[in-house]
Amino acid sequence: MSEAGSSAVLWDGRLATKPDAEAFAFQASIKVDKRLVFDDIEGSRAHAAMLGRQGLLSAAAATALDAELASIAAEIRSGALAIDERAEDIHSFIEGVLTERLGDVGRSVHAGRSRNDQVALDIRLYLKRRIPELRDEINAVISALLDIAELHAESIMPGYTHLQRAQCLTLSFHLCAWAAALRRDVQRFDCALRRIDECPLGAGALAGSTLPLDREETSAALGFSRPSLNAMDSIADRDFALELAAVCAITQTHLSRFCEDIVLWSSEEFKFIDLAEAWSTGSSIMPQKKNPDFAELIRGKAGRTTGNMVTLFTLLKGLPYAYNKDLQEDKEALFDSLDTVASCLRMFRGMMKSACFNTERMAAACTSGFLEATDAAEYLVRKGLPFRKAHETAANLVRACIAAGHDSIARMSLDCLKLHSPLFEADVYALLEPAACVATRRLTGGTAPEEVRRQIAKLRAQTA
Ligand code: ARG
Repeated sequence: MSEAGSSAVLWDGRLATKPDAEAFAFQASIKVDKRLVFDDIEGSRAHAAMLGRQGLLSAAAATALDAELASIAAEIRSGALAIDERAEDIHSFIEGVLTERLGDVGRSVHAGRSRNDQVALDIRLYLKRRIPELRDEINAVISALLDIAELHAESIMPGYTHLQRAQCLTLSFHLCAWAAALRRDVQRFDCALRRIDECPLGAGALAGSTLPLDREETSAALGFSRPSLNAMDSIADRDFALELAAVCAITQTHLSRFCEDIVLWSSEEFKFIDLAEAWSTGSSIMPQKKNPDFAELIRGKAGRTTGNMVTLFTLLKGLPYAYNKDLQEDKEALFDSLDTVASCLRMFRGMMKSACFNTERMAAACTSGFLEATDAAEYLVRKGLPFRKAHETAANLVRACIAAGHDSIARMSLDCLKLHSPLFEADVYALLEPAACVATRRLTGGTAPEEVRRQIAKLRAQTA
């Protein structure tokens, strides 16, 4: 493995003395931006080809640069060339290797561009590759959730508000709620991607270039929809990074909430879910423990992604136009958010695919807690009683049940029910059964099995 490019500093001509080693390392970013290496090379190839076509480089020089850049990429891929972390950043490293190998031809690649344009370009190219991968990961989680949902269209469980049993629903319905949230996350990534899709190349550090660069050509060659509108904006802007950090934070917050449900459901108190042993951990002291560490860690990592978003807000707030070295701090936060969400999506999918649901426990939890109280009130509404009176009647019924030691309104005799409202008839009992409470919520968005099957089909079609 050869080492190259480490000695290249692109800016020391003006300075009589250089920073010492520690200070140089402090301002270097290669450890973070080395992951942009292939994007940097791709950008340089497009730039060099354009310089050649515009007559700013000889055809021979442009060809030599292109071949050498292709070879550098291949060598890095194969491991024959190592990225030297003593270089300042990935842009300096690549230009240093080119110069070592090609002399003045290497020295000519930077005409009409700045590292400010390069970094803005490289991150965008990287994100154009990375976002579709993340989108696929989210869609894979949605598919996994829908696979489980399909098996549980009739699996009744309590729905909670304030973490108190509220109304009956199905596991399938609950999982579709998660999938719908993830579906919006996919849309948010897609939308952010559209705004990233502008080529900053040709910004020339700030105000454009005096050289006859062809910005349309490099933009098209690199697969962008258009060159950016304003040179200064294209190198000062990091709102694409901020937006993506926000989208990552939202996605991670969703995962975090799902995982909180999983942690609750896996407790002895709920016992709704049995996580696979491979997706659980033990305790170093309590031999009986089977802990939902994966769910907890995914939940906890929402702190990290929210923190990264706040880092970027703080970085940008009050930053004068245009490029300032502060912007170098953007990548660590952004990359960490992307990596965190990607790994959490994979972990969440694995954990969910291997989990078993205790449908008996879920159904049993619907038989107490008066989850049918809203159904009783709505029964009276259908019989013509104003809702507020129906609500009061059902509330009084619940109080009477509690006083009599009944755990459900259905335990009351019809005579007792009629004491509360003469509108009650024997047909109410069938409607107070958990299965009926679910089956009768047939309206769009409801929890009735046939409606949830429609939701699954719709989500599947959107995910395909
Ligand atoms: N490593 C730098 C960054 O990530 C590249 C741009 C440096 N530009 C400059 N004018 N110092 O932001």
